[in-house]
Amino acid sequence: MIVYSIFLVGNMRKINISGNWKLNKTASETKELLAELTAAVAGATKTEIVVCPTFVSLTTARDALQSSNVKLGAQNLFWEESGAFTGEISGTQLKNVGCEYVIIGHSERRQYFNETDATVNKRLKAALNAGLLPIVCVGETLEERESENTFTVIENQISGAFAGISAAAMAKITIAYEPVWAIGTGKTASPAQAEEVHAFIRNKIANLFNQQISENIIIQYGGSVKPSNAFELLSQPNIDGALVGGASLDAESFAGIVHAAEKIEG
Ligand code: 13P
Repeated sequence: MIVYSIFLVGNMRKINISGNWKLNKTASETKELLAELTAAVAGATKTEIVVCPTFVSLTTARDALQSSNVKLGAQNLFWEESGAFTGEISGTQLKNVGCEYVIIGHSERRQYFNETDATVNKRLKAALNAGLLPIVCVGETLEERESENTFTVIENQISGAFAGISAAAMAKITIAYEPVWAIGTGKTASPAQAEEVHAFIRNKIANLFNQQISENIIIQYGGSVKPSNAFELLSQPNIDGALVGGASLDAESFAGIVHAAEKIEG
């Protein structure tokens, strides 16, 4: 009986396949893509499916996703609730237009918009306060990997992002490991390379919080995920989903990844 429940714990994580559309698709294109996608994944029952269009397409997406099994997310949020912050969007506003998820700290935001572990932490707290489910991105650059600093970089990103976050709040958080060198390059981390970092992250979460949080937290892999490599990546014991860029812009490709996820035992 004890053995059985330990076995169950290892299989309780629901695979989460999220599409990060980045700066792509107008509102009308969003509607078309989601009409195709919702039809293509309608039979998926085991997988949590999320799409994150641009801010201006969120309401169109919300309407297109009604009565589907696909959830809505945003790609960023600001940490203040309201006020004189021209161009920014709050967590409450995202929640109000139907978002359940929000991506935080994507490497493109770190690279082009001066995002740091400290700003990731502020956005994370704001997202949690607004009742959103955050997807927190971490990952090393090629230079950091080649200089054998991967684990130090990930460790710092994790401790910076989750500073002052309670164990209860951690239960709402998804982590996305996205090696920067694998994003949009066609170079996927090998399943073994990804698994090594995922296991490291899970262990770090156990040290920072506790074993239960660590066993339950969803850790997605991101970086050139496509239908042809999804099954092998998702078969790794510590890879619980994917954060998909390019392949999420095409209904057939994204659905192909979801269908691969549906075939994973557990
Ligand atoms: P690609 O799937 O295009 O490599 O992008 C990954 C990513 O950055 C998802 O957030």
